[in-house]
Amino acid sequence: MQPPTIKTVSDWLKTARQQIDTLDARLLLQHVTGFSRTDLICRPGTPLDEQAAQTLQELLRRRVAGEPLAYLTGETHFRARPFKVTPATLTPRPETEELVDVALVKLADLGRGSAVFSPLPQGERGENPHKILDLGTGAGVIAISLALEFPAAQVTACDLSPTALAVAEENATRLNARVRFLHSDWFSALADERFHLIVANPPYIPAADPHLAGDGLRHEPRIALTDEADGLTAIHAITAAAPHHLEPNGWLLFEHGYDQGESARRLLTAAGFTQVHTWRDLAGQERISGGMWVEQQTSG
Ligand SMILES: C[S@@+](CC[C@H](N)C(=O)[O-])C[C@H]1O[C@@H](n2cnc3c(N)ncnc32)[C@H](O)[C@@H]1O
Repeated sequence: MQPPTIKTVSDWLKTARQQIDTLDARLLLQHVTGFSRTDLICRPGTPLDEQAAQTLQELLRRRVAGEPLAYLTGETHFRARPFKVTPATLTPRPETEELVDVALVKLADLGRGSAVFSPLPQGERGENPHKILDLGTGAGVIAISLALEFPAAQVTACDLSPTALAVAEENATRLNARVRFLHSDWFSALADERFHLIVANPPYIPAADPHLAGDGLRHEPRIALTDEADGLTAIHAITAAAPHHLEPNGWLLFEHGYDQGESARRLLTAAGFTQVHTWRDLAGQERISGGMWVEQQTSG
């Protein structure tokens, strides 16, 4: 059978929609042609030049093969902001936006001097800012969102991958967010620095999980997805070391797998955290856990 003749944007959309999601087809078309959604709706007969048609066919082939849309367009949205992503960074997931929501609630408590924190001034950066640390920042989505949505904060972000850090730095510059980026194996570059809030979305997929080899995940950096063990190694390392980097009554919050809530609470409790809690995502799954670090009383 002859392949369909593609002369207009509407021809291409019709062909692509038989193979991939309609939204993905539209976003690929906009990415290649620069047309707006309104252009596509109001002028479906707009001609596609041969080069654009060829580029689109190649992107369609890669999307059908499972490459995440964000790697094909080089961009995704997180909390309504555009972020550059590359195959060196995880494609940010919508569940992670909810980690930022929980973090903002904890930061608001800090500002109010609620039951958990003594009040800190909401004034200029540098007066006595709320210090936040984002571990495993990837494309920088959590750190940059917090810096922009809680401007009184002083945000530090770390990653073991220098290529991911370069993308995160570019995103911070583009979005005009002030974030300090450090190349670090979890806390290794932080000496004895302390923070009011530590957030993390660590690699938590067990190495034996067959999804790692499936479409989508197999295109993402393995270091961002799995600890190459039972999925809890990074969570264990972070919960064990975080007390040395938290201010008194500071919080640690991290994302985990839907079936790791109980293990996350156990690790937090074993490390000495109080108010240990797990938040469910909008789909009802246990996806974020955290606890408060109350400074230990020294006797004598
Ligand atoms: C699940 S991704 C999260 C990326 C980003 N924070 C997000 O939520 O989209 C985990 C990140 O942890 C980083 N990572 C893995 N092992 C690390 C380590 N030992 N120290 C610091 N970062 C690490 C990976 O490079 C990756 O960027």
